[in-house]
Amino acid sequence: MKVFVAGGAGYIGSHTVYELLRAGHEVVVYDNLSTGRREAVHPDARFYEGDILDRARIVEVLEAERETGAVAVALHFAAKLIVPESVTHPLAYYHNNVEGVRQMLAGLVEAGVKHVVFSSTAAVYGEPQHGECREGDYTLPINPYGETKLAAERMIRWVGAAHGLTSCVFRYFNVAGADASLEIGLDKDQLTHLVPLIMQTALGQRDTLSIFGNDYDTPDGTCIRDYIHVTDLARAHVLGAEHIVNRQEDLLLNLGSGKGYSVKEVVDAAEELFSFAYEYTERRPGDPAKLIANIQKAREQLGWRPELGLRDILQSDYAYRKKLLCG
Ligand SMILES: NC(=O)c1ccc[n+]([C@@H]2O[C@H](COP(=O)([O-])OP(=O)(O)OC[C@H]3O[C@@H](n4cnc5c(N)ncnc54)[C@H](O)[C@@H]3O)[C@@H](O)[C@H]2O)c1
Repeated sequence: MKVFVAGGAGYIGSHTVYELLRAGHEVVVYDNLSTGRREAVHPDARFYEGDILDRARIVEVLEAERETGAVAVALHFAAKLIVPESVTHPLAYYHNNVEGVRQMLAGLVEAGVKHVVFSSTAAVYGEPQHGECREGDYTLPINPYGETKLAAERMIRWVGAAHGLTSCVFRYFNVAGADASLEIGLDKDQLTHLVPLIMQTALGQRDTLSIFGNDYDTPDGTCIRDYIHVTDLARAHVLGAEHIVNRQEDLLLNLGSGKGYSVKEVVDAAEELFSFAYEYTERRPGDPAKLIANIQKAREQLGWRPELGLRDILQSDYAYRKKLLCG
């Protein structure tokens, strides 16, 4: 089937494009290249530069594509996602992440696309009391980024009900790692996630890794998170897209590994592979002690399960970053 991927030049979008092509689908990428890179788009995908805020351009692209077969399903990755930036620039986040989704949905409705897959986040859960998140849990985001994603999730549901659009909403936990080909990986100017920061330290691009807080209510005092390999995540998107097109039913699913590792455990696992310096610093505001995905629903409804573990995540990110460094 033909798949429209908004944000397909970014980290998760580009990996999903690779998996869609491996599964035999035809892919059209639509991206404004604000944080994405043209080189990350697989050469077998057709690329259109454009903004999701530009509804007319989306319709134009979808109409042009119709000549070789209509787009069956649209995937939305095109968002801003840096939490501290969302706190200082909330209007920019509402504009891109809420108004952008509104314009894209309007374009899909106008062009007759009936299925949409949306990237949401564990940030919609806020600070869960018990640490393990289920899709039916209470949602109470604690920053504008999470709020915009929750608003978009709800908009998709209402628009879907009114206009006959089926949706698959995925709430991701901590995504990391790189494609086995090492052609693509996490290549951004602003790196804020633990795994790439460890690798940059191991590769001498940073002096010391900071671990934010070691006095949380966890066995070793550092925060516990759920790390999922980007390739496992991308594979779930292929299944999610196929599912909503073939079965016409809405899905709302967590995507994580279902396992929690403390920051110290990740650091220890990385130290078995590479050497680097680290230090404990103050807690960051708004970091919950424990965030783990319950992935039962994704297992049951998609027949999906994560195949790659923490070691695969660490090794692939290191190999990709080393490749970037060597040019
Ligand atoms: N990376 C994570 O750990 C993580 C975790 C939870 C959720 N998510 C969600 O996954 C999605 C993808 O994240 P990512 O890490 O790949 O980010 P990314 O910044 O690498 O990718 C986003 C892509 O969307 C494009 N884009 C942004 N705004 C656009 C617009 N208005 N019009 C057209 N293109 C636009 C960018 O150029 C980029 O290619 C986002 O929706 C994000 O909220 C990511």
